[in-house]
Amino acid sequence: SKSECLKGKRALVTAGGTQEPLDPVRYLGNRSSGRMGYAVAQALQEAGAETILVSAPTDLPAPHGVSRMSVQTALEMYDAVLANFPNMDVIVKAAAVADYRPATRAEQKIKKDGTNRTIELVPNPDILAELGRRKTSQVLIGFAAETENLLVNAQEKMHRKNVNLLVANDVTKPGAGFGSPTNIVSFLFPDGRRIDFPQMSKLEVARNLVGEIANLLGDCNKG
Ligand code: C5P
Repeated sequence: SKSECLKGKRALVTAGGTQEPLDPVRYLGNRSSGRMGYAVAQALQEAGAETILVSAPTDLPAPHGVSRMSVQTALEMYDAVLANFPNMDVIVKAAAVADYRPATRAEQKIKKDGTNRTIELVPNPDILAELGRRKTSQVLIGFAAETENLLVNAQEKMHRKNVNLLVANDVTKPGAGFGSPTNIVSFLFPDGRRIDFPQMSKLEVARNLVGEIANLLGDCNKG
């Protein structure tokens, strides 16, 4: 049936914002709540896919029937995703991954001494771009959260990261982006197709995304 379109498929979703430690008690983070990725994992599970959620820290419970692997840093997420990638049919990268991490992690809590401090940052690997290079038959989905030139930046990411579909959202719009229960998104496809959606709940966005994933896999296209 339409409701079990992805039965027999294996899906991996990343969600949340990675945390990059400075010392045992401090980290560099971002405002991601994890809600969009958790909604995608729920929608994939409801469509019948065996679903793994690789999650950076969030306050959210794991969706029913989804197996969650918890990670903290971008490097931990990289390892968890790459280890599972060859066995997956679908990968959705909804996590807000830190582009940089502190070059060193102090073993003890950093003490204040009244002087200026500089944090040296080194680049993290781009997980999605790496998956794009390794992709064989997998359907690969990325997200682009932008604060300016949304469609131009999103289109550039779609091609650079070799994804099958990119979900673009302007995180500065009211009702969209970080922490909000709703989102306003466009789906971009490599053939130039674009679907613009009105404001809807993150679960509705997720269900629309799962419908497109089923189309890309060639399943349920009579539904
Ligand atoms: O950070 P950026 O805007 O390029 O993120 C776009 C997409 O790439 C998102 O799907 C995000 O999860 C993914 N990404 C990643 N690894 C990174 C940075 C981003 O997988 N280091």
